[in-house]
Amino acid sequence: MKEYTLFIVDDERTIREGIAVNIEDDYTVFTYKTAEEALENLGVHDPDLVLLDIGLPGMNGIQALKEIKAIRSDILVIMITAYEDINSVIECMKNGAYEYIIKPIQMEGLEVTIANALQTIRLRKELKTLQEDQIRQEMPCFIGESQVIHDIMGYIEMVAKSPDTPILIQGETGTGKELIASTIHHRSPNFAGPFIAVNCAAIPKDLIESELFGYEKGAFSGAVADGKKGLIEMAAKGTLFLDEIGDLNPDAQAKLLRFLEEGEFYKVGGTTRQKVATRIVSATNKNLDEMIAKGTYRKDLLYRIGVVKIQVPSLNERGDDVLLFADYFLQMFNEKFKRALTGINEEALELLKVYTWSGNVRELRNMIERAVLTAKGPSLTVTDLGLDEIRPERAMAGDPLAALPPLSPAGIDLNAMRFHMDKLYFSQAMALAKGNETRAARLLNLKPHTFRYQYKKNVEAQETTTKENC
Ligand SMILES: Nc1ncnc2c1ncn2[C@@H]1O[C@H](COP(=O)(O)OP(=O)(O)OP(=O)(O)O)[C@@H](O)[C@H]1O
Ligand SMILES: [Mg+2]
Repeated sequence: MKEYTLFIVDDERTIREGIAVNIEDDYTVFTYKTAEEALENLGVHDPDLVLLDIGLPGMNGIQALKEIKAIRSDILVIMITAYEDINSVIECMKNGAYEYIIKPIQMEGLEVTIANALQTIRLRKELKTLQEDQIRQEMPCFIGESQVIHDIMGYIEMVAKSPDTPILIQGETGTGKELIASTIHHRSPNFAGPFIAVNCAAIPKDLIESELFGYEKGAFSGAVADGKKGLIEMAAKGTLFLDEIGDLNPDAQAKLLRFLEEGEFYKVGGTTRQKVATRIVSATNKNLDEMIAKGTYRKDLLYRIGVVKIQVPSLNERGDDVLLFADYFLQMFNEKFKRALTGINEEALELLKVYTWSGNVRELRNMIERAVLTAKGPSLTVTDLGLDEIRPERAMAGDPLAALPPLSPAGIDLNAMRFHMDKLYFSQAMALAKGNETRAARLLNLKPHTFRYQYKKNVEAQETTTKENC
């Protein structure tokens, strides 16, 4: 397979074939006798370089040059011209031709010109690859090995391929919605364009429209004299991340809807329609369906922003990913704070697994940051992590008999005691695990089905009886 593809476009067969014969050992060559044919095949054979006669029948070389440059500006074009056609040559150079050669063609000279042009292309390609590598290296690192995260990453990989399909990311606070938005951008065809993030909740309600869409000069008092570009325009050919999309006011909702439907908008105070190609990724931890039911959010906007929806699971739904995160953040903050903590001790790891992460990954990250900063070492303990308050149950499990009263001569009601102890711990476990039975079972070192059975028997049944008695 040859590295470069060349088109030769000339209505004179001798010229087409004369050039082709001399260069086809080194390059893949296609010849055409009209500009129209060459243009039709541009997308098919993807040339790097076009040798283009100026005086063609039908569409002439100058027009064809403009078309080629409009379709693919990176293709280099060498014009072929008769000596007396020098005015046209000037016009071609103005329109982006790389070089020109004069008939009758000197093969040696042409070969040097082609080689130089291809050298330029090679350098451009190398530069582009370097730039792309650089950008990809800055790509965010998305941690997670659980099945749910694998599935989400696979889905992101697919949906990111389109440059403009709107994507809505939903999930609890701290689950990584912004990181996912940035991952989508980096995996999309827009990755070399800008990633602009805006928190809709942080912009005052009456400024959101002008921030998003920009404004013309004199649009309102206090406006910058020359007017201002909006964030949508700034995100052209890239990604606009609208965080907290649930906080958009009704006017801004209507305008955003129009933009998503038609790809067009008006600046505040403007009368000219603006067109911008960008991808809108939105995120929220609010329940938009509930807001729609209450009449505070537009249903049609939800359909538009959520052509693709991604539901990010809470940290507690990601199994042992919590340990992966803990280790990742430990290394990260070890490096940042120049500390050398060796890891997290067994007891602390156990508690991290059962803790209820209402602030999700952000809460875990903050917890580890604080612990790495203040721990004595060598490894992080329950106290370093501030998890002491969920520790007593486990501590007692380590030495259960120590907490029991000795048997007195009056004896004890062992069954009643067992019953009360079960009831106490089952209720506490459910409270600590915020109603999640699997985690509550882990806290008591029981299998989930055993926990469920005994919980029903000891707590729920008891509660029902109490209610009935009342
Ligand atoms: N999978 C992940 N890998 C690495 N870091 C993560 C991951 N998920 C979240 N984080 C980190 O956790 C923190 C919170 O993530 P992010 O800001 O993306 O959450 P969010 O869902 O946008 O939260 P909010 O709803 O509060 O805006 C950030 O520091 C982020 O880098
Ligand atoms: Mg966020």
